[in-house]
Amino acid sequence: MEKLKHVVSARQFDDPEFLLWLFESANQMERDDLFRALTDPLRGRILATLFYEPSTRTRFSFEAAMQKLGGGVLTAENARANSSATKGETISDTIRVVSGYADAIAIRHYEQGTAEAAARSSPVPIINAGDGVGEHPTQALADVYTIKKELGRLSGLRVALVGDLLNGRTIHSLLPLLCLYPGVTVDLISPWQLRLPLRYREYLMAKGVAFHEGERMEGAIEKADVAYITRVQGERFASREEYEAVKDAYVVDAALANRLKPEAIIMHALPRVNEISPDVDGDARAAYFRQAKNGLYIRMALLKYLLA
Ligand code: CP
Repeated sequence: MEKLKHVVSARQFDDPEFLLWLFESANQMERDDLFRALTDPLRGRILATLFYEPSTRTRFSFEAAMQKLGGGVLTAENARANSSATKGETISDTIRVVSGYADAIAIRHYEQGTAEAAARSSPVPIINAGDGVGEHPTQALADVYTIKKELGRLSGLRVALVGDLLNGRTIHSLLPLLCLYPGVTVDLISPWQLRLPLRYREYLMAKGVAFHEGERMEGAIEKADVAYITRVQGERFASREEYEAVKDAYVVDAALANRLKPEAIIMHALPRVNEISPDVDGDARAAYFRQAKNGLYIRMALLKYLLA
């Protein structure tokens, strides 16, 4: 695979061999972190985190990753309110200026396509940390890394994607990565209002990936190797009423988790609201907090790849 400069879409990761290499690198980061053996390959380098939407995991894990690699961080954790965007500065101008101070920029924005637009005007690597209802490629890398770690394989899996498939950018990035592995079958479970957009269903068809759509978890959840639950994205709805109508469409509680296969895993990019009950957290199959931790190591591996 040609060396990537920017990371704006999961579709750029179209080489399973490269992903394997990245996962091994993330695994090495984790071992080195455990044994306090991390070196400083990014000493003197700076990552700017330019976040126009709220975040806990993505921003903190990017910043922790950079610091663990010996680099530094400039952060705008509420750039929508606290940057010169409030004075009318364009993203393009902001990127040009910040790229004079930082060696890479991780950007989260409320509008789809912003990371791609930023990459066009940036001399330094742009990393998409979530662009509206578009994509969240580094989350998807962490997700696939988690599946490999937890189940030991990525081929031949049955993956149930549950919840807000319309607005869930983690799903939009995860699907192209799942398509790289033979024998994957996808169950798309959502209320009809939150159905996966046509362009992603067309992508699955073009890649020859078997998928089924439905509104009920029952029937799909029992067959799943991976039950990937998503939050209904209240912030993307036009009205409170529309959100209220679907917000509790799916709740995974201990009773429902018991219907999963013993070797299945439950994933969620987090934050969760009601869709996974805390009484599931003690189940060994609940992988979501391990998934969040894996985001640190995959971002370390990615930053080293882009910057070292
Ligand atoms: N998974 C995820 O993107 O979480 P944050 O919104 O907290 O970054």
